[in-house]
Amino acid sequence: MPAKLSTGINYLDSLLEGGLTEGRVYVVSGPPGSGKTTFGMQFLSAGARLGDRGLFVCTSSKPKSVVADVAQFNFNIIENYKAKRILFLDMTEKTPFPSKERRKYMFYLERINEVVATMNVKRVVIDSIGPLVMHLKKDQMAEEEIYLLLQGLQDIKATFIITSEMNNFRDYGPEDFYSSGLIYLHHFLQEKEMVRAIQVMKMRGSKVDSDMRELQFNSDGLSVSSKLIMVE
Ligand SMILES: Nc1ncnc2c1ncn2[C@@H]1O[C@H](COP(=O)(O)OP(=O)(O)OP(=O)(O)O)[C@@H](O)[C@H]1O
Ligand SMILES: [Mg+2]
Repeated sequence: MPAKLSTGINYLDSLLEGGLTEGRVYVVSGPPGSGKTTFGMQFLSAGARLGDRGLFVCTSSKPKSVVADVAQFNFNIIENYKAKRILFLDMTEKTPFPSKERRKYMFYLERINEVVATMNVKRVVIDSIGPLVMHLKKDQMAEEEIYLLLQGLQDIKATFIITSEMNNFRDYGPEDFYSSGLIYLHHFLQEKEMVRAIQVMKMRGSKVDSDMRELQFNSDGLSVSSKLIMVE
């Protein structure tokens, strides 16, 4: 049986029967400000604590601003960065203009593969998938690009979380289908108040509880409680 990796979020680990399965590709999807980047960093900092080296692949925000944004949490981000327990790959700069022969997903795979192999990385977060396909007009081309990226990642020996921008929670993206597991972070207005919730939409190979549970920010990052959130 492959090992389970802690997400760094206690209650979520128990919902996932121990955590995320090693070697798989997962998607964390949510609207703006729902906690996607925090989730990814929490996963890497939990790994760093256990001796797993992490890689944070920035596709939209620069590493500097990501570090500044998560510095408020007990992720030890500066120490982990200095000690090379968490590495950054800035794909906002390193992606040449794609052509027919040299597609964008290929640059992503080559760069990620190189760092994972040379630095013995165990956990990778790609934040986020949007910029991979934003230059592609046709839906079919974007779907193929995402499919090929996810296929390629399965051949790299690490566990992946890809964050994905959700515009409408009934509007699934191709990454939702091609991943091993899908976690939704919700943030919506209910009775004049914004509510945060987490929902495990799918987890291949595990029995899942797909109810929406309360999600909160605290000094340790995100935390999940057993409280059920109902959508009215
Ligand atoms: N301690 C906190 N308490 C409450 N809310 C917080 C706290 N820290 C951050 N937030 C909120 O969380 C959001 C940022 O979280 P994060 O960057 O993880 O979300 P995201 O889903 O990655 O956002 P984006 O779509 O912009 O990439 C911000 O809206 C911020 O106000
Ligand atoms: Mg983000």
